[in-house]
Amino acid sequence: MSDQMNINSRPIVDVCQVGRSYGALTIFQEAHFSILAGQRIALVGPSGTGKSTLLNILGLLDTPSQGEVLYHHRGQTFSSQNLCDRRATALRRSMLGFIFQSHHLLPEFTALENVLLPAQFAGQKGALKRGKELLDRVGLKDRMSHRPCELSGGQQQRVAIARALINNPELILADEPTGNLDETTGREVFQLLTDMNTEEGTSLFVVTHNQSLLPCFHKIFFLEDGRLIES
Ligand SMILES: Nc1ncnc2c1ncn2[C@@H]1O[C@H](COP(=O)(O)OP(=O)(O)OP(=O)(O)O)[C@@H](O)[C@H]1O
Ligand SMILES: [Mg+2]
Repeated sequence: MSDQMNINSRPIVDVCQVGRSYGALTIFQEAHFSILAGQRIALVGPSGTGKSTLLNILGLLDTPSQGEVLYHHRGQTFSSQNLCDRRATALRRSMLGFIFQSHHLLPEFTALENVLLPAQFAGQKGALKRGKELLDRVGLKDRMSHRPCELSGGQQQRVAIARALINNPELILADEPTGNLDETTGREVFQLLTDMNTEEGTSLFVVTHNQSLLPCFHKIFFLEDGRLIES
């Protein structure tokens, strides 16, 4: 936690008494916390307790059954309760970056093209230069024109990190980003994420089963028996 000072106290997301249920089945309830600018948060807990569900809610890919999520972005506040699809998509593209356990790269596109896709959807200017810089930054300068099948698992995940960062998101949401990688590669990929956090001030919210990574986080949440507890 040596760079604790890098976090400022500005919340970028407020999770307000959020719960998710499917009919009578309650997955979790009363999740209540803020994500601050530059903060690294880990979410751990047994399988099936709702970690991905919470991450998807934060990412506007799912809606809470109770409560609301507030997004503070470019001087405005948006609530998950009254975001239309168009606004949610725009917010997702400009504020959030996603990294999943399997990278979800498009097989027919090169590494660089995959990285540039979110920028094209967002109509982002200057993306080509940044895309190349990011691929260089993640150690793939010589692999920009490779397709995913021509890259190793760790390299594919590094492309996914570059893709998540292309639109300068304020918050990266990562669901077991090192889950498919061996211990060493997983560590390297995670180191890269924390470097980006330090260099670009991007907040991280990471679901992980990897206990050895936990000391790298400013805050650790545990989800079990329907409750989110800070540990
Ligand atoms: N459409 C659905 N209808 C009913 N229950 C669902 C639905 N989608 C998910 N669930 C339930 O929600 C719970 C939480 O799922 P989630 O994927 O968030 O768990 P998780 O904590 O990410 O687990 P893992 O560590 O295995 O990835 C699970 O028990 C799952 O069965
Ligand atoms: Mg999950």
